[in-house]
Amino acid sequence: MNIAIDGPAGAGKSTVAKLVAEQLEYLYIDTGSMYRALAWAVITKQVDVEAEQAVSDLLKQNHITLKRDTDNQQHIFWNDEDVTDRIRTPEVSKFASVVASYAPVREQMLVLQRELAVAGNVVMDGRDIGTHVLPDAEVKIFLTASIRERAERRLQELLQKGHQTDLAALEAEIAERDKRDMEREVAPLRQADDAVLIDTTGMTIPQVVERILEICKRSG
Ligand code: C5P
Repeated sequence: MNIAIDGPAGAGKSTVAKLVAEQLEYLYIDTGSMYRALAWAVITKQVDVEAEQAVSDLLKQNHITLKRDTDNQQHIFWNDEDVTDRIRTPEVSKFASVVASYAPVREQMLVLQRELAVAGNVVMDGRDIGTHVLPDAEVKIFLTASIRERAERRLQELLQKGHQTDLAALEAEIAERDKRDMEREVAPLRQADDAVLIDTTGMTIPQVVERILEICKRSG
């Protein structure tokens, strides 16, 4: 069985997807981290983010890989470089949604993501998993929450990591990223027709996980 979890920025997808994967002993795949790794490389290698071809070539000429360490934590590599801790900044978030709007970039990511899911039993989260990457996934979830709640959750995450920011700036950043993700031409963020909508506003993480596990049980 494959489980697709999509939704806007900060809806709690990765936290919840990781826990669901642990419970079911499935492989968790965070597709956002792949777009983030490319964005990190664009910034670090000083590639013009507006130059679609150059960004696509950068991806073509390098390797993004996901590996698990001994603690079962997922690490993301750009070639041999572990970039896991460097891709969670607001700057990378913004660049990620720009590079993710390019068709040749998405085509390459789609191939990589399908390869990762080929053996089955994966929980994959992103924006277009239920609609494009794994349209045959047995369980599809669309997770959302109010923009205020999503910004507050992101604020706590960033503060814990020592990044300075404020709620209003985060709300604006999330709104801008959602808009870009929903309005792009290729594989925009939208709920698949057969996905179950879960609004996590006011819900705890264990409640959301429980809800998804119930849905999996019904489908399994
Ligand atoms: O999920 P996360 O916030 O880490 O994703 C970063 C960005 O990558 C998103 O804003 C979106 O533009 C892009 N993305 C995407 N398709 C996916 C996963 C992420 O376009 N499947």
